[in-house]
Amino acid sequence: MLRRLHKEQPASFAFTPANLEWARGQITKYPEGRQASAIIPLLWRAQEQEGWLTRPAIEHVADMLGMPYIRALEVATFYFMFQLQPVGTVAHIQICGTTSCMICGAEDLIAVCKELIAPAPHTLSADGKFSWEEVECLGACTNAPMAQIGKDYYEDLTADKLREMIGRFSKGEVPVPGPQNGRYASEPVTGLTSLKEFESGRTQYNASAQRAVDIGDTVKRIDGTEVPLTTPWLAGSGKPAKAGKAAAAPKAEARPETVKANAKAAKAEAQPATFAALPPDGTAEKAGKDATPKPAKAPAAKAAKAPAAKAAKAPAAKAAKADAAPAVGKKPKGLKAPRKGKADDLKLIEGIGPAMERLCHELGFFHFDQIAAWGPDEVAWVDENLKGFRGRVTRDKWVAQAKIIVEEGIEAFLERAKTNDY
Ligand code: FES
Repeated sequence: MLRRLHKEQPASFAFTPANLEWARGQITKYPEGRQASAIIPLLWRAQEQEGWLTRPAIEHVADMLGMPYIRALEVATFYFMFQLQPVGTVAHIQICGTTSCMICGAEDLIAVCKELIAPAPHTLSADGKFSWEEVECLGACTNAPMAQIGKDYYEDLTADKLREMIGRFSKGEVPVPGPQNGRYASEPVTGLTSLKEFESGRTQYNASAQRAVDIGDTVKRIDGTEVPLTTPWLAGSGKPAKAGKAAAAPKAEARPETVKANAKAAKAEAQPATFAALPPDGTAEKAGKDATPKPAKAPAAKAAKAPAAKAAKAPAAKAAKADAAPAVGKKPKGLKAPRKGKADDLKLIEGIGPAMERLCHELGFFHFDQIAAWGPDEVAWVDENLKGFRGRVTRDKWVAQAKIIVEEGIEAFLERAKTNDY
């Protein structure tokens, strides 16, 4: 399938404050110089916030990670988990159309989508609430045919069941994910034939359906106030960040019929009462304000407000502390402004993207000859002071690249860059 950016794009993108804290926390999970590894969670959170992935969002994430835009675009356009065009404000329905599902009735499900949502995929329904597409195998083949709706799987579907579910979504309900024909998981439809002892003491729904019910974010937008509930992360220390109150496990006995009702029982107040409560554009920021008197704070945000001694333990504060007190190498001579008011295009150096270039400017580095002149001490200082990108100078051989540009010219450099000859 051809995946392209949508022709109509918003002017800008910004994470909500809580999502921004969450994103920064994600970045701390990766070793210095490997921040680009956070690309998928950050793009995913941008999509969770907006419903789809806009060009400004992709570029914003690329800037945060110091990546060239094209690298972020490659990721966003490769995975069909990323929606590159507006989706329904209530739900985007992904019907698996691969072999098992096709044999078991995927075409009937697609027919329902065409009838109830829109004749063509990636088209909004008349009321803007739904969109659909056919996707490749989602790995739930023993429960074919199935669909991913929002973040969860609905399995063992029939056309009638899907029709009924779309009706319920439309009314603001969220049907419980998982098998829709009475199966617990992927056991024989007539029941277990072995390992029957495991039937006692299990949760009401199978593990993934139970998790979906407990979290209650199947199709809701994420403004970040739910962070402790949905995504505890490992901090730079390797220890899980402290979860907020909302992370407390919901009581096992609370097993209502819909995800929405259960989310309420689990005190996930950020879930709007019904999807009808979502603002027309589907963003949760406003809905969150209405439905959540006191949004839970993201761990990193909490740490920022905590007393100094406490905050120093938090990943974000720890990183900030390290940023503030580098004691390595020797600071290279910087400039207050580029010579003749024009900086070199430092992005020609492999490893320098738009965000990194801005950082270089902040440190007073505008020209190739400045970088080419760095010795080991200067490299050590810059490597230490590149905030979220420590070690990049050495890893990407900035000095060697800059020397070639200065001594041999840009054309010769570009020629050598084709084979990383520096
Ligand atoms: S074929 Fe549909 S989930 Fe694998």
